[in-house]
Amino acid sequence: MDVQVENPASDPCVMLVFGASGDLTRRLLVPALYNLECDGLLSDNFALLGTALDQITTEQFRAKMNEDNKKFHTRNEFDQAKWDKLVCRFHYTPSTFGDLDAFQRLKDQVATLDARHQTRGNVLFYFAVAPRFFGLLCDNLSRSGFKEGPGWKRIIVEKPFGTDLVSAQQLNRDVLAHWDESQIYRVDHYLGKETVQNLLAFRFSNGMFEPLWNKNNIDNIQFNVAEAVDVEGRGGYYDQSGVLKDMMQNHMFQMLAYLCMETPGSFQPDAIRNEKAKLLQAVRVYTPEEVAKFVVRGQYGPQVDDAGKVLKPGYRQEKDVDPESKTETYAAARLHVDNWRWEGVPIYLRSGKALSKRGTEIVVEFKKPPLAQFRGTSVRSLGANRLIFHIQPYQGIEVQFQAKIPGPTLQLQPVHMRFGYGDAFKSSRYTGYEVMLYSCSRGDATLFSRGDLVEAAWRVAQPLMDYWNATPAGEFPNYARGSWGPKAAADLVQRDGRYWHEVVTEEMLKRVAIFKEGDPLFLSQVALSLRPQQAAAGQKIVEKGAVGHEMYLITRGEVEVLDDAGNRVKTLNDGDFFGEIAILRSTPRVATVRAKTDCDLFVLNKADFQRILHEHPQFSDGVAKVAKQRYDVSVSPQSLSTRTA
Ligand code: BG6
Repeated sequence: MDVQVENPASDPCVMLVFGASGDLTRRLLVPALYNLECDGLLSDNFALLGTALDQITTEQFRAKMNEDNKKFHTRNEFDQAKWDKLVCRFHYTPSTFGDLDAFQRLKDQVATLDARHQTRGNVLFYFAVAPRFFGLLCDNLSRSGFKEGPGWKRIIVEKPFGTDLVSAQQLNRDVLAHWDESQIYRVDHYLGKETVQNLLAFRFSNGMFEPLWNKNNIDNIQFNVAEAVDVEGRGGYYDQSGVLKDMMQNHMFQMLAYLCMETPGSFQPDAIRNEKAKLLQAVRVYTPEEVAKFVVRGQYGPQVDDAGKVLKPGYRQEKDVDPESKTETYAAARLHVDNWRWEGVPIYLRSGKALSKRGTEIVVEFKKPPLAQFRGTSVRSLGANRLIFHIQPYQGIEVQFQAKIPGPTLQLQPVHMRFGYGDAFKSSRYTGYEVMLYSCSRGDATLFSRGDLVEAAWRVAQPLMDYWNATPAGEFPNYARGSWGPKAAADLVQRDGRYWHEVVTEEMLKRVAIFKEGDPLFLSQVALSLRPQQAAAGQKIVEKGAVGHEMYLITRGEVEVLDDAGNRVKTLNDGDFFGEIAILRSTPRVATVRAKTDCDLFVLNKADFQRILHEHPQFSDGVAKVAKQRYDVSVSPQSLSTRTA
């Protein structure tokens, strides 16, 4: 027998969208409403009234939404009947936000729609406009009597909520002068992501991890939000913003709060929001000295080919960006949460644009177990257990741990268990706005930020902004497009004896010549054993005569192999590897290798490399062949002089 789980539909309402001709409406709001309609979650007693400066009619607005939704909808299959049922409830009227007469006309139209669609006087105001209009809109809505009458009235505002602490406080005052906090829904679209919502569900519905969720068991936590895209033509906005305001102060701090907050008394909105606010209030507000020590900023430079030709512009060459801009397109920070649960546990955050790949992950790294019981075995060190929340684009949860390698001796190997959303659930892709619109209509503010939470987040971000404004950014640009970001960010964690966890995909490994033919098992073992490392141009990575403990894979950049006199024997770049001879033959390094440009590398240590090759002898032949060729070249002075690149 089929079990039908009934979800109640959204509350009846008229949704009045300010800024309805903008990108947000067509790309996200309308596709989200369409998803709700398809899933039977949108009330039949619903109507949308769009307004903006554009002088268009309702028919033209519907035609535009029709065209756009065909492009932006996220369903596996388009359901025309459902769309027709939705779009005929869309209306449009032009208005100027400062004109009270226009508000009167809007009010009359909302009343007409209310009567026609039986929406019980409920009105959801959506501010899809620049923040400078928020105060004005609140004021005029209140002055034109929108607050009165039966039914609920709720306002959804988009980020950014303020541009610094003072402006956020002022905005809160402006908005709350006319409306009650319970009527204000501040959107952070990250909280609409299923994988972010699952952080709470995961923490509090499983008995396995929550007891370990504290400084006694957790070594460090990393939040990584990497974007491959650049500013995408939004230079004008971005140059006033930067990654701290665009990503960290809001999206990343919200995730931080979910992951680290205390257990709420219930899943009631304010129970959760109280705990989030307490957590953000416990994040240390840095002094300028602490900002200098614990925070790194970056800005991307152009992508150039070998001949120095610019393939893609650097940030300062982007449209509408100041050619001497100090705006950061990358930031990395070590934060401290000064409460009983987290005191002393480094919380690392990093985010940037124009990086090598898109990926959002949260890595919870546990403390390593003691080694005593393994004395007398061949186990020399133990890796840390990691719990990884893959937020996007891959969606899943992964646990990394050690397992014994089958065989008569005791040897360990890092392995993992993965849960992928795609394997466990069958559902359409969502925009993230469905749950926001649905929750707001039902008066559930759990996923929305509260005034005090926003201010707490700005309080942490403010000293970073102040410090950066007061100090020159002379080193900009300091990372290349398509790289992992500035080396200073790697140094920030390396100083603490740690490294950023990089998600290594099969596709990335296959770019390295010796792994091209690797089967999934081999590649998965390599991926779990790699450690990222960055080298600055001019830095010696291995030195001739030194004892070699690891080999290197170049994911980006160029290195030069040098002879005894310091002459270049050859250059290696993306997809090449080096340092394998010393670890395969247990001889000292046969050549010096120096970074010619800034490089992103993966390091594979000797024990892991030998273990993997031992288990996969078919690959050991290929590697040995390359190593032999190179060894012969490296030790023969004659060949050295003929092989200069
Ligand atoms: C927005 C930022 O809030 O989030 C953008 O303004 C950023 O600059 C975007 O690209 C990232 O969102 P997502 O959902 O693609 O990770």
